[in-house]
Amino acid sequence: MKQKLESILAEGLKEIESSQDLKELDNARVKYLGKTGELTQILRGMKDVPAENRKEVGSLANVVRENLERSLSQKLADLENVQLLAEMEKEKVDITEPSKGIKRGALHPLTRFNNKFIDLCVEMGFTVIQTPEIETDYRNFEALNVPKNHPARDMQDSFYITDNILMRTHTSPAQVWAMETMKPPFKIVCPGRVYRNDDDSSHSPIFNQFEALVIDENIGLKDFMIMVKEMAVRLYGKDVKMRVRPAFFPFTEPSIEIDATCQMCQGKGCSLCKGTGFSEFFGGGIVNPAILEMSGIDSKKYSGFAFGPGIDRSVMVTNKIPNIKYLFRNDMKFLKQMR
Ligand code: DAH
Repeated sequence: MKQKLESILAEGLKEIESSQDLKELDNARVKYLGKTGELTQILRGMKDVPAENRKEVGSLANVVRENLERSLSQKLADLENVQLLAEMEKEKVDITEPSKGIKRGALHPLTRFNNKFIDLCVEMGFTVIQTPEIETDYRNFEALNVPKNHPARDMQDSFYITDNILMRTHTSPAQVWAMETMKPPFKIVCPGRVYRNDDDSSHSPIFNQFEALVIDENIGLKDFMIMVKEMAVRLYGKDVKMRVRPAFFPFTEPSIEIDATCQMCQGKGCSLCKGTGFSEFFGGGIVNPAILEMSGIDSKKYSGFAFGPGIDRSVMVTNKIPNIKYLFRNDMKFLKQMR
């Protein structure tokens, strides 16, 4: 029995050692240590060994088993290592190969303009707020002095969700939100998307505006003009020229429309500005005291000005984009040119 065990050990070790791959190694394991393996058989048959030899044979059998197991796990680790190295060799990355180039993303031209305008307003002390795109008829129209059936509603035909809920037609409801929720003095600006039932090459059912509102004591038209001039200079450079035309908005009194040097032709005169050298910058005016009162602000103590530029036109002009729809189509060919 002792001899048998010794030969199992010697042969087992030899077979393990000479295994060329994981399969051969596993065959060796099964042959000696598997359920019906040679050593397993002996260990099972211990009860038949005469009692006086049992201890000696038993401990020898255990030594053989431990040696075989140690040798197996050592060989297993070696073979796995060899396999891993072979795989790594196969999958080697050639770091000297020229790269395909990294595709750079870029901000959308509208986002760039928006960011520029927001930065400018923050520098000038404005608080940036955002208000809902789905509005009540009250905040979109009535609280801005545009009662039901008022003709001024014609210019802002909208998408109604119910009789009293609609997609906002301008960012001016932000004025109402501010007046209802903030204590004067304050300076707010609200950038955002607005919706109108309009559709041609220079009008889109979705476009973008900026609403600005300044409320304080003793605020008048001259403060408004100084701020607007400063904004135009920061946006378009110090040579920018401006002109003011009278206008009408139900929420401002007086109302004005401000033009600035046409950015397409730099004031030389082109088809966009119809040869005048000016294009519309934005509309605004002195906040109608009725509006202040409707939102609970004392119009004897406070006054203010408001204005609401649309930004899509400026983005089109500064980027020479012929049709406003390009701004919303997400066409990669177009967007790549805008980088
Ligand atoms: N909400 C107006 C529009 O969409 C623009 C505007 C005019 C905004 C006068 C104002 C303002 O804040 O005072 O046509």
